[in-house]
Amino acid sequence: MDKVAMMINARKLFKDVSDLPTIPAIVSRVVSMLDSQDASPDEVADLILSDQVLAARVIRVVNSPLYRTSNTILSVKRALLFLGFKSVREMILTSYFVDSFKNQEQPFDMKMFWVHSFSVGAISRRIARMIEYNDVEKAYLVGIIHDIGKVFLGHYCKEEYGRMLAGISNTSSTTYDAEYESFGTTHCEVGLCLALRWNFPPAYCDVIANHHSSEVVTEDPLLLSIVALADFYCLSHGTYNSVAQASIPGASEDNAWEVLSQFATDSLPTSLEHFLSALDEEYEAINQEVNQLFNTMTI
Ligand SMILES: [Fe+2]
Ligand SMILES: [Fe+2]
Repeated sequence: MDKVAMMINARKLFKDVSDLPTIPAIVSRVVSMLDSQDASPDEVADLILSDQVLAARVIRVVNSPLYRTSNTILSVKRALLFLGFKSVREMILTSYFVDSFKNQEQPFDMKMFWVHSFSVGAISRRIARMIEYNDVEKAYLVGIIHDIGKVFLGHYCKEEYGRMLAGISNTSSTTYDAEYESFGTTHCEVGLCLALRWNFPPAYCDVIANHHSSEVVTEDPLLLSIVALADFYCLSHGTYNSVAQASIPGASEDNAWEVLSQFATDSLPTSLEHFLSALDEEYEAINQEVNQLFNTMTI
């Protein structure tokens, strides 16, 4: 596949769209402030409070069952101190990301899409903790947003995408290959265009663009490997049968596993197969986490 031609085709699809969903500028400003870690809780709280919708959202989510607070938290500053900058950053971006696609019609089941996205997020976080990655919440967020390109293709190329999905149901073809056949590009390149438009940080863009080709060298290879493996786990778990097992592992997963093993020799099981079985043991807890999140987000 010619990556340059795929990117050109993705840009062409983008050019025709005038009603692209937006993420408010205030959200990008708060996220960069939280990313920098130099700001004080007062400064961040002031910025959040300048937008009442955003402030209300922070208070609502921090008091949801997801965070199990013993007392109700009523101030934005306390929410920041309770959750920490990184968790608030992920919570804000995730909820706006979900909102921007909320009422769009899609040729696929959106609930299933979100279940996949949040499961990849939750498993990425689990892997990140396991290997003591330095920004666990970032792994979680990037896991959630890795497939955003699918929502773009499903919404803006609805009929063709629907036909494509119907054409591969009950076959062994992957969505990725079918997208390439139909559009000359895939959700990875289209997702990258969207991420660039929304000014997502470079490491986030890298994962969106390369999670199906983890052999590519990126700014944060560890982050890419975490999400690529979480995605692989969810895909194989979703169709957990002998055929799916027989196809494990593939080239891309092998590469991601190799990167992971280099960084965390002590804390990882001895092989990819053992690693996937260790995740199996936690899968029930992860499922509960995802369900709780659904109730919070009211998708
Ligand atoms: Fe994907
Ligand atoms: Fe995925």
